Amino acid sequence: KRRIGVMTSGGDAPGMNGAVRAVVRMALFSNCEAFAIYEGYEGLVQGGDMIKEMNWEDVRGFLAEGGTIIGTARCMSFMEREGRRTAAKNMILKGIDALVICGGDGSLTGADRFRDEWPSLIEELVERKELTSEQVAPFKHLNIVGLVGSIDNDLSMTDATIGCYSSLARICEAIDSVDTTATSHQRAFVVETMGRHCGWLTLMAGVATGSDFIFIPEKPVEDGWEDNMLSIVKKHRQLGKRKTIVIVAEGAIDVHLNKITPTQIKDILSKAGLDTRVTTLGHVQRGGQPAAYDRMLSTLQGVEAVKAVLEATPETPSPVICMIENKIVRRPLLEAVAQTKEVAKAIESKDFEKAMRLRDAE
Ligand code: F6P
Repeated sequence: KRRIGVMTSGGDAPGMNGAVRAVVRMALFSNCEAFAIYEGYEGLVQGGDMIKEMNWEDVRGFLAEGGTIIGTARCMSFMEREGRRTAAKNMILKGIDALVICGGDGSLTGADRFRDEWPSLIEELVERKELTSEQVAPFKHLNIVGLVGSIDNDLSMTDATIGCYSSLARICEAIDSVDTTATSHQRAFVVETMGRHCGWLTLMAGVATGSDFIFIPEKPVEDGWEDNMLSIVKKHRQLGKRKTIVIVAEGAIDVHLNKITPTQIKDILSKAGLDTRVTTLGHVQRGGQPAAYDRMLSTLQGVEAVKAVLEATPETPSPVICMIENKIVRRPLLEAVAQTKEVAKAIESKDFEKAMRLRDAE
């Protein structure tokens, strides 16, 4: 029987548990054995009890739970070759030759590198007499399949990452709450949102909450933006609006070189006569139960990941499971990650047109 491992890595995202559940159950359904690797790559390096066989009922209740029940960690030892060699040994001792990883671009790149190195790691294990040639013989190749778990929705080649719609819903709930107090006092609020290099959460939250003005990393601020913002805000007030909401994506603060911090925006609104407060949403945006969309996305992607494992040949490049125009599709993992990194670079160097072109490319 094939043995398939599943793990979550990097920042947690709502829906990761749904992915673990789907991989475990699809593996069992496909007559394979399923293993959960606890605490991300840390569990792979530590081995032993950190790699647990999973049965059908072990993932019961996972679908509606936020965060990641099997844990995630930033693992320094996996960055070193020695750590990866130990990880390979632990996998072979457990009989696992396929890994499904749900994480962000960094975690997925690490996984593909592990696959590349796998044959030489195995050789070293035999040379060092940590394993025998008989033990390693059935484990010539490592299969890697990626699932993108991140609230940021920042991976190229997919329309949605696992977690982004839950986070968006949470941001909207928070802004709705801010709205009621803002309206009561006729106040303005500057709300800071997460998203790293990507303004998707902020743009969608702006549309979904009817905010007055947003700042995202993908759109440069132009000269005179202060007057532009104030004239829009004033126009909305003249139309009878009793509140003002300006959303600032954290990435906009970095990209625009501290030119526009939420506090500075607050000062501009205050000077214009609006009683203004700043609210930083922080990790609330990443927490809580997954929205229906993320339960569905993680389930469909987890099922596809196991199919990809079973169909893989040594020549197949590692795939990442994506969603494009409402269809679950596979894309080359390394290309998707490389394109995502290009987008981040283009944004940092303020080549916004290039960033948008690359992000749209499938
Ligand atoms: O990538 C997810 C994310 O929540 C980003 O939006 C944010 O920039 C970052 O992680 C925060 O990281 P940490 O949880 O390590 O503070």
